[in-house]
Amino acid sequence: MRAIVIREPGGPEVMELRDVPTPEPSRGEVRVRIHASAVNRADLLQRLGMYPAPPGSPSDIPGIEIAGEVDTLGENVTEWKPGDRVFGIVGGGGYAEYIALPARTLARIPDGMSFADAGAVPEAFLTAWDGMVDQGGLAAGETVLIHAVGSGVGTAAVQIARAIGARSIGTARTSGKLDRARELGLDEGIVVDGAGSFADEVRRRTGGRGVDVVVELVGGSYVAQDLACIAAKGRIVVIGMMGGSRVDFDLGLLMRKRVEVRGTMLRSRPLEEKILAALALDRHLAPLFARGALKPIVDRVLPLASAAEAHRAMQSNETFGKVVLTV
Ligand SMILES: NC(=O)c1ccc[n+]([C@@H]2O[C@H](COP(=O)([O-])OP(=O)(O)OC[C@H]3O[C@@H](n4cnc5c(N)ncnc54)[C@H](OP(=O)(O)O)[C@@H]3O)[C@@H](O)[C@H]2O)c1
Repeated sequence: MRAIVIREPGGPEVMELRDVPTPEPSRGEVRVRIHASAVNRADLLQRLGMYPAPPGSPSDIPGIEIAGEVDTLGENVTEWKPGDRVFGIVGGGGYAEYIALPARTLARIPDGMSFADAGAVPEAFLTAWDGMVDQGGLAAGETVLIHAVGSGVGTAAVQIARAIGARSIGTARTSGKLDRARELGLDEGIVVDGAGSFADEVRRRTGGRGVDVVVELVGGSYVAQDLACIAAKGRIVVIGMMGGSRVDFDLGLLMRKRVEVRGTMLRSRPLEEKILAALALDRHLAPLFARGALKPIVDRVLPLASAAEAHRAMQSNETFGKVVLTV
């Protein structure tokens, strides 16, 4: 099969389209003919040699989400039949024509959704659902602050917040992304200026009360400000650290407000929890797509051979939503 292989750690040019052995499904696994994958920040880090694939995933083929068709069943698989349209998160190996993976880590693509759109869904929407709703406990009537709201995860979080009846405030470094996020249901947008400040504005827009949940996709200096503009008993869910991995904040304020800070990562989870993620995709998210409450946000679609161009696009910080690779 053809796959994108990382030749050595480095820039986008180290990714090459090569012929590699086609994987065979083991017991309990299926082989999927991949029709679409999408780019994630994790792929950029893996390419740089800073984020090795977890055990069991190919070390040199990036790609942590897929959409495609079931091709071959391993022994003991009863959930699927060849031709079923499936999508899900994977540990790696998504930039390829085929992947073998545990049958129960997949979910069914909603009827009428194209493979390219389906490729834009699993990582962004599962990360947003799991972080903001399952772990952050965001509920109807509450307010959520979503940083980097024009990102793949951010655009998913805005839509989920609207779908569950929560109010959303988003930040971005450019006003254009806020305008586009408003079309997805964002209630309030704040441009984070050169000094990187947003806390005063969030307090002002919440009548001084603060937000209930923060979807923290930037990290670094944002976290201390989150603490300054979160309501009592608020929850800060740290999902990304594009702005830095170190924080300096006031533990006194954390205690007085009784705020919970938690970190989360999808890729490092054991099989049992990846199966739960597939169930969340199937039971919570797919029905919302089916009734039009959520839609995949695709910035651009490129062929697999243009993976380097896709990485450059994400690195530029100019994309809104997902960069999809079709296979
Ligand atoms: N924990 C997990 O399991 C998990 C899963 C998926 C993603 N993530 C994380 O979630 C975050 C978003 O991922 P994504 O794939 O949705 O990203 P994305 O689509 O590439 O969007 C990222 C956006 O963030 C903004 N940004 C970049 N660097 C920034 C900085 N230093 N300060 C402030 N804003 C910055 C840029 O928009 P503007 O500057 O125009 O606002 C950029 O377009 C990443 O940190 C990623 O690693 C975590």
